[in-house]
Amino acid sequence: MRIAVIGTGYVGLVTGVALADLGNDVICVDNNPDKVALIQSGRSPIYEPGIEEFITRNLDEGRLRVSGSAAEATQQSEIVFIAVGTPPSADGSPDITAVVAAAKEVAKGISKYTLVVNKSTVPVGSGEMVADLLREAGVDDSLFDVVSNPEFLREGSAIWDTMNPDRIIIGAKSREAAARLIELYQPLDKPVLVTDLQSAELIKYASNCFLAMKISFINALSRMCEACDGNVGDVAKGIGLDHRIGPAFLGAGLGWGGSCLPKDTAGMIRVAESMGYDFRLLKEVVAINDEQPRHFIDRMEERLGGLSGKTIAMLGLAFKPNTDDIRDAKALVIAEDIRARGGKVRAFDPVAMDNVRALDTQISLSDNAYACCDGADAVLLVTEWNEFKQLDFGKIGTLVKNKVLFDGRRIYSKESLGKFGFEVFTIGSP
Ligand code: UDX
Repeated sequence: MRIAVIGTGYVGLVTGVALADLGNDVICVDNNPDKVALIQSGRSPIYEPGIEEFITRNLDEGRLRVSGSAAEATQQSEIVFIAVGTPPSADGSPDITAVVAAAKEVAKGISKYTLVVNKSTVPVGSGEMVADLLREAGVDDSLFDVVSNPEFLREGSAIWDTMNPDRIIIGAKSREAAARLIELYQPLDKPVLVTDLQSAELIKYASNCFLAMKISFINALSRMCEACDGNVGDVAKGIGLDHRIGPAFLGAGLGWGGSCLPKDTAGMIRVAESMGYDFRLLKEVVAINDEQPRHFIDRMEERLGGLSGKTIAMLGLAFKPNTDDIRDAKALVIAEDIRARGGKVRAFDPVAMDNVRALDTQISLSDNAYACCDGADAVLLVTEWNEFKQLDFGKIGTLVKNKVLFDGRRIYSKESLGKFGFEVFTIGSP
């Protein structure tokens, strides 16, 4: 099929290259000429393992093109995906300016029947809004359908997730409108659920909010485990073995960050408010998440006898491993908290340091984990990168002032580091 994908962020670019790889003719569109040029040269504007291979293969084999014009790309396509960003506005509600702009451009390119698919995470009612924008631009109702097709990919495993989704959700006014999309996804051979537009829009928010809730739930339990000498890892295993609960997203730690969970929980609270519902449960999920890193730094402050004048070696800056994304990363909140308490942060991350350099932080950056630990008062592990899982603590012990590790992601145990004379503070363990 001939497809246009508007927006080359995580969702747009990955969707575009995945659909091209499945044999479709895809045009990826971005209004930023630098991004267009970069992709055209086979490179990726986002850090995602494996994506450049997909870009070059599909460019070389002629299935992928890149364009700066959404209207032109629409003209040449049967299906147009809107996959632009919906960042949070000041009050937490999603800013849909880019969706509106994309819809107006798409309207200019529709001259034959076109299926317009909304993949951006948008408030309930946005599908209808896009349809209204097309009508206002003079596009006849017979020439389009708008459907909602939320994306559930994770950064770091985005291509695999897109090719192997648990389910495909299609929100449409009629089965006929959904039919073309069902056909497009047919090669993936995955369950398809067709709903009305509003329900599909809610499913996207509800999924991310539920995942956030699972993590906040286990993090709340981690506080109880610390108080009663329990082990939150065992508690998570114990409840996760119940198939009604499941083991995923029960990893206790410093809490959830990134570009989606924080944005979508805040967005859902606002969307609910706009419908007259006070989503108190979700507010508490957010509050627990905000409290989690503060509580860990309280423990650090207590152990070190205050943080004033202390240097903390922070391992990891990205919001999770296998990404350079530092949006809503716990590392930034923690660094600010340590600084407010009079301490200094020196950090190392395998891929996210350029993004931190571009920000105005007071974090000093090191070339590797060992340089980061050299002369530090304590080590704080924030992101569970693989390369941090087998660090030489014999060597680190010779570099640090105090042999204390604060493990915010539960990688190390007292047993494994005790032999190096290290004291280990873990979330959710005594
Ligand atoms: C998330 C959703 O998983 C995905 O379906 C959606 O499309 C976009 O948002 P992503 O933001 O890439 O994906 O990251 P994810 O792997 O979900 O992790 C989110 C945050 O939760 C990270 O900060 C991670 O460290 C944290 N997390 C995850 C935990 O603290 N514990 C867990 O058990 C799992």
